[in-house]
Amino acid sequence: MKIYKYNNKNNLYDDVLKLYINEINNNPKINLGLATGSTPIPLYERLINSYKEGKVSFKDVTGINLDEYIGISRDHFQSYYNFMYNQLFKHIDINLENTYIPKDEKSIEEFQGILNTHKIDLQLLGIGSNGHIGFNEPGSSFESNTHVVLLDEKTRTDNQRFFNSLDEVPTHAVTMGIKDILEAKMIVVIATGDNKSDAVSKMVDGEVTESLPASVLQKHPNVHLFIDKDAGKLLKGEYKYED
Ligand code: PGA
Repeated sequence: MKIYKYNNKNNLYDDVLKLYINEINNNPKINLGLATGSTPIPLYERLINSYKEGKVSFKDVTGINLDEYIGISRDHFQSYYNFMYNQLFKHIDINLENTYIPKDEKSIEEFQGILNTHKIDLQLLGIGSNGHIGFNEPGSSFESNTHVVLLDEKTRTDNQRFFNSLDEVPTHAVTMGIKDILEAKMIVVIATGDNKSDAVSKMVDGEVTESLPASVLQKHPNVHLFIDKDAGKLLKGEYKYED
């Protein structure tokens, strides 16, 4: 795992942007594994600006999302379908027919088929404060493919900020499995903020265990972890700070 630690969050996202522009321009038909939540937003804003400045095109890019809530419709303001459209897709030249987001339990087979025919070149991941990746909660099998999960209460309370109340946060979701995530050729993980520091330290320095799903990333040969100083404050190693 390559670790890049930043004092300044803007510089962190600027460097992730450079990596993305490079990868997309080197492979315009790239299959991008996409994520939702707060973490990707500054990257998506930068990608939109770069597209508007003519530095990158998504014309031939395929986007495959990690996960989706179950129990809210696609037009609900907090569905990940809606999130992707509003935070990224509607602002760029991606062909919506080349975007795939899991939908519900009935869509699992179809979504798994997409994963089996579209190898992800570059997977973006945030990390939950409980160490989840996608919605693979603690205890998820490392051998899992796309499946339905019961959301951890920690995840529901973390995500309550996006809803009007905890009651409105869905209890279930559908997610790409850990086995699927590990199939990606390259993985970029971004973590910022103090509330991620415990999960980040267990992911990097802890034992590889299904009770901390992100720890499995220690086994992947091409993971790039971008963290700010708050998220990285419990790491054991000495890391040079980028600005
Ligand atoms: P966040 O979520 O980016 O909203 O903190 C990350 C995650 O749960 O994977």
